[in-house]
Amino acid sequence: MKSLVREKDEISEKSAPRRLHIVTFGCQMNEYDSQRMAQMLMGRYCLTPFPEEADLIIVNTCSIREKAEHKLYSLLGRLKGLKKRNPALKIGVAGCVAQQLGEMLFVKAPYVDFVMGPQGLYDIVNIVKGLDEGGERLVRVDLDNDFDIPHVEAPLPKKGEVRAFVTIMQGCDNFCTYCIVPFVRGREISRPSEDILREIGSLVDQGVRDITLLGQNVNSYGKKSPKGVDFPGLLKEIDSAFPDIRLRFTTSHPKDLSNELIECFGRLETLCEHLHLPVQSGSDKILKRMNRRYSRAQYLQKVEKLRSVCPDITITTDLIVGFPGETEEDFRQTMSLLEEVRFDQAFAFKYSERPGTAAARFQEKVPEDVKSRRLTELLKIQNRIGLEQYRRFENRICEVLVESFRDSGITARTRGNHVVNMEGAGGLVGQLINVYIERACHHSLIGRIVH
Ligand code: 5AD
Ligand code: SF4
Repeated sequence: MKSLVREKDEISEKSAPRRLHIVTFGCQMNEYDSQRMAQMLMGRYCLTPFPEEADLIIVNTCSIREKAEHKLYSLLGRLKGLKKRNPALKIGVAGCVAQQLGEMLFVKAPYVDFVMGPQGLYDIVNIVKGLDEGGERLVRVDLDNDFDIPHVEAPLPKKGEVRAFVTIMQGCDNFCTYCIVPFVRGREISRPSEDILREIGSLVDQGVRDITLLGQNVNSYGKKSPKGVDFPGLLKEIDSAFPDIRLRFTTSHPKDLSNELIECFGRLETLCEHLHLPVQSGSDKILKRMNRRYSRAQYLQKVEKLRSVCPDITITTDLIVGFPGETEEDFRQTMSLLEEVRFDQAFAFKYSERPGTAAARFQEKVPEDVKSRRLTELLKIQNRIGLEQYRRFENRICEVLVESFRDSGITARTRGNHVVNMEGAGGLVGQLINVYIERACHHSLIGRIVH
């Protein structure tokens, strides 16, 4: 959970006298959406980090895993007290949980003023304006499949931020059986490439040097608009328009990782040697039940191709343990896949049943204690492998981009997305420097500047 704050001095008190507080749960896409809402409301509100001084509080929710509703209601319970003290306070719930609950949310939280799904955020100014003018509480959760993502000026990064995210598409048509995303974010919709390039341009003008393109399934970019560019085409356009940036993307579906895209890693200078490629399971039986539409062998083949084009590429992944029907043997298959691929990092989750998804109706549920045991076992193996992978950088010189400065130390990032900590001055933020890697830790490296 994060609060979004921009520096107050950048916003004119005169034109934006009221205060907005945004709480964000979940993924980078939600963070980005929160920034967009803040930006669209900037004429009416300035941001505050303090909920108690806000005139409007927006909770941007996530429902991908865990007890999202429970988390939301306990936060709303706290906000209810604020509203008692300040009856003029408006509270809005946005994002994926809002999409799922719709009007139902008012039953448990009648003091909420608006509920709006992820597509509603582009209408936030009208929604807030309506409420300010004394309008009734409202719900905006229709999913429009022919929706066009409107152009909004780039969300402003915080001052001095070197890294930024840019949404290129939203929604998902894949319907993996465990996943709520296609239900709450609707069908795949791509942004026009001109908008994306314009947004990257303004981020670069503000000093951003490392850009991550975001989408639930970036490989499907542009597939529904035959006249526009596809994903490799978009990468090429960005690469030639902004030759000095570092470019990354997430998330990529293994079934759609084409040879053309793999070759981009060898060809495009700006494209960093880093790919997040969620595998979810190492068992063919489970992959089938998950509706992932690739086999273990096909996944391994793609990894091999990636490494032949780009030997040093960092590959990270997502895994789910305890999917319905996962036997001990299936789990062993996942464990052996970890040994075979040797990911730099893996994000592993216990399967969490999402109401309305196909898997929620599957039999052979795995008990919680078995899920927990498998998760612990998996993380233990992956921690070892991850550290071994990070050790390959020891005693090497890497080019890193410095991102931040704190207590006489700087934090930087390699092209392969490894975080490097070292001694250094604040003036280096935003610069590319060479560092000698002295030691690998879990999830980071320790280095020294090479003069
Ligand atoms: N249970 C557990 N993990 C899930 N993920 C998505 N849905 C679920 C679920 N129902 C994980 C997947 C995905 C990541 C973003 O979250 O691993 O790649
Ligand atoms: Fe969910 Fe699968 Fe779509 Fe990813 S590709 S968002 S896991 S349905």
